[in-house]
Amino acid sequence: MTRKLTRRNFLKGMGLASIVVAGGLVWRAADSGVFSTAQGAAYEPWTNWRDAQDPRLNLIRAAILASNPHNSQPWLFRLADRRIDVFADTRRTLGAIDPFLRELHIGLGAALSNLLLAARAEGYQSELTLLPIGADPAHVAQVEWMSGTPEASPLYAAIPQRHTDRAAFDPTRIISPEQWARLSELAQGFDDVSLRWMTDPQAVRFFCDRTLEATQAIIDDEQQSSDSFAWQRGSWQELQEKRDGLTYDAQGMGPVMTSIVKLLPTITKAQADRGWFEALRDRQLATTTAVGLIVTRDALDARQQLTAGRLWQLLHLQLTVEGLGAQPLNQLVERRDREIQLGGESHFGEVLTEMVGDNRWSALMPFRVGYPTLPTLPSPRRDLQAVLL
Ligand SMILES: Cc1cc2nc3c(=O)[nH]c(=O)nc-3n(C[C@H](O)[C@H](O)[C@H](O)COP(=O)(O)O)c2cc1C
Repeated sequence: MTRKLTRRNFLKGMGLASIVVAGGLVWRAADSGVFSTAQGAAYEPWTNWRDAQDPRLNLIRAAILASNPHNSQPWLFRLADRRIDVFADTRRTLGAIDPFLRELHIGLGAALSNLLLAARAEGYQSELTLLPIGADPAHVAQVEWMSGTPEASPLYAAIPQRHTDRAAFDPTRIISPEQWARLSELAQGFDDVSLRWMTDPQAVRFFCDRTLEATQAIIDDEQQSSDSFAWQRGSWQELQEKRDGLTYDAQGMGPVMTSIVKLLPTITKAQADRGWFEALRDRQLATTTAVGLIVTRDALDARQQLTAGRLWQLLHLQLTVEGLGAQPLNQLVERRDREIQLGGESHFGEVLTEMVGDNRWSALMPFRVGYPTLPTLPSPRRDLQAVLL
């Protein structure tokens, strides 16, 4: 006998269906890492960074928490009794996004700053030598040390708190003159590297408009777009396995939107490009009122790129101490490098020359700074064993 479809039976059926759907959603949510943000082995390096029995290993643990391009973590370390040799991992480059390894060297320089801060905190008095070291161009630095007095600076303490901020900034809050002074001071004492700030609304608008144009140019360049997308980590499982790359959690979308995106099927390159462009236009650039620019004498010089990276990491740590957020925005420089590589017009090169306004200096690393509106989240990191030679 067929059962009559009463309102009661229908609702009972609906209830069952809802439980099944909800169960499936909860399962999918768990599988996609919705409930595990910043958890799992891929995030352990952020909490166990000072735990090594051998204090020399804590120097490397601090180094791998540094800012680095596309979270490619392009570093390798060789540990000796009183020395650490630092190498570029040339298998972990960004292809057409970084044809001259400018960003790779900035990331390595950033790691050096963390390493040196940790050395001081562990009581090592260290000396840094930058490349060339021997004949291997991948051998970028050597840090040697003697025993000294432990000195844990506020910048050292900020190492695990520093994360790239891709959320909106609060445009109504102003960075004070004292804060600008403390940030600018960090650039003193670095040879061939200097710092510029843009806060004039017209200059900021010029930067934002041209950055958006450069972003579209990257999207339109099939090779650059694919080489960038290769570092996108679309699933929780892939993220936990590879422990590198760009994650949804780190995109500054806020908890609700991040959960929704994690639940959707893995996004395509075209969707990722569109999402990137729109987040930039509507959230990041729309709330930008202050831009920093690290400039060097020679943008293609690897030593100067390393030094710029050292300064960048110190700046980001100081910004963290000040309660400020930061996001590198390298599209203009990525397009300038690409134009040089392709040997065609130098449209974005000219934009950057105009922005710097002084032909003795060349733009290397633009970034936006401001007051955060959301807490930042960490990005995954490979562990020590993966980066030791
Ligand atoms: C040289 C360099 C270039 C970068 N360019 C960008 C960029 O254009 N846009 C962006 O959102 N983040 C950029 N970043 C930030 C990295 O993606 C980020 O440091 C990395 O994913 C690790 O995340 P974390 O900084 O939160 O630890 C850059 C970082 C470096 C060192």
